[in-house]
Amino acid sequence: MNINELRKDFPILSQKIYGHNLVYLDNAATTQKPQCVLDSVMKFYTVYNSNIHRGVHYLSEKATEIYENARLKVKDFINAKSRSEIIFTKGSTEAINTLAYSFSLKYIKPGDELIISEMEHHSNIVPWQLYAQNKGAVIKVLPFDNNGELLLDKLESLITEKTKIICVTFVSNTLGTVNDIEKIIKKAHEHNIPVLVDAAQAIQHLKIDVQRLDCDFLALSGHKIYAETGIGILYGKEKYLEELPPYQGGGDMIKNVSFEKTTYAELPLKFEAGTSNFVGAGSLHTALDYVDRIGIENISQHEKQLLDYATNKVEEIGGITIYGRAKNKVSVLSFNVDGAHNYDVGMILDKLGIAVRTGQHCTEPIMTHFSIPGTVRASFALYNTFEEVDRLVEGIKRAKKMLVG
Ligand code: ALA
Repeated sequence: MNINELRKDFPILSQKIYGHNLVYLDNAATTQKPQCVLDSVMKFYTVYNSNIHRGVHYLSEKATEIYENARLKVKDFINAKSRSEIIFTKGSTEAINTLAYSFSLKYIKPGDELIISEMEHHSNIVPWQLYAQNKGAVIKVLPFDNNGELLLDKLESLITEKTKIICVTFVSNTLGTVNDIEKIIKKAHEHNIPVLVDAAQAIQHLKIDVQRLDCDFLALSGHKIYAETGIGILYGKEKYLEELPPYQGGGDMIKNVSFEKTTYAELPLKFEAGTSNFVGAGSLHTALDYVDRIGIENISQHEKQLLDYATNKVEEIGGITIYGRAKNKVSVLSFNVDGAHNYDVGMILDKLGIAVRTGQHCTEPIMTHFSIPGTVRASFALYNTFEEVDRLVEGIKRAKKMLVG
């Protein structure tokens, strides 16, 4: 992998911020887009813009083809069994909301239980509170240790005959932990409990094979893997999706409508009400092709080297606390400069042209676990370089000197 060549694919990276070359290390929030994705978006609007599934005319058929081919690409990318299992959404948040609503309506009764891990993003907590807890379900929490590893030995003791679903992230956006999803799924299935995997932070780093994992549901976002914002996926096993009621009503998700009774479209359209984002879907197709050309294994190997290098360099500074010491991690480095507020460190790094995220990263329970208000988070992607890590380290040293002395 020639990183300097690859960087040329990402025009945004060559700009200056406050007179410095941009160092973009906020990839867990969103990734930058390669030229091929930008070009495809422009082309879809310039040449094919039309509403999908609705017209007999040429443009509508072309737009539909782009959309449905994107679905097939996603199916192959995550190795789903059938295109019916791939639902387009706005992103992983909407995917989880869709599932939480439909699953709760169909399967949750007062007194039922759900297991959610302590390291979930708010988007895998709040939808379950909105729809399941409000139906009287009890949310049980699978905790993690101070290294940021889930205490899987505790899982068995949390499971009862009332447990209806286990919701867990594949990769923590804050700690970088790669969870042993296969072990969780195996344990859950011993008790006939389905598992939702939040793959928003995994899809861009790890090879995901839903059939091998045997997960029942999986959520992901396109913008985390170099595609546009506003497009994501809910994967679900067909046997569940067939049973679940739709989340939203509207056009495209119906078979027949009358004032007395409406029947729903076949999968996957049952879950795709309204005008779908065919441009976003097409951009996801382009982005996944791009990732395939580079190879996800090559990407994760490069990112791992960056993470190891950054972790060592940041530790050498001294007076820094790193959060997330799991043995199996992706390229996310959360830390605090002891004695300084994460926001102040982030502001100083910003003035040096270095983009990191600060705060709670939508994971307040993780902050509560460590009794901290937030962290500084550097997250690396395929286009980051060792020189950029050096710039980060110099920036942290400077912030430390200014804020702590
Ligand atoms: N969930 C995204 C992040 O971790 C926005 O930054």
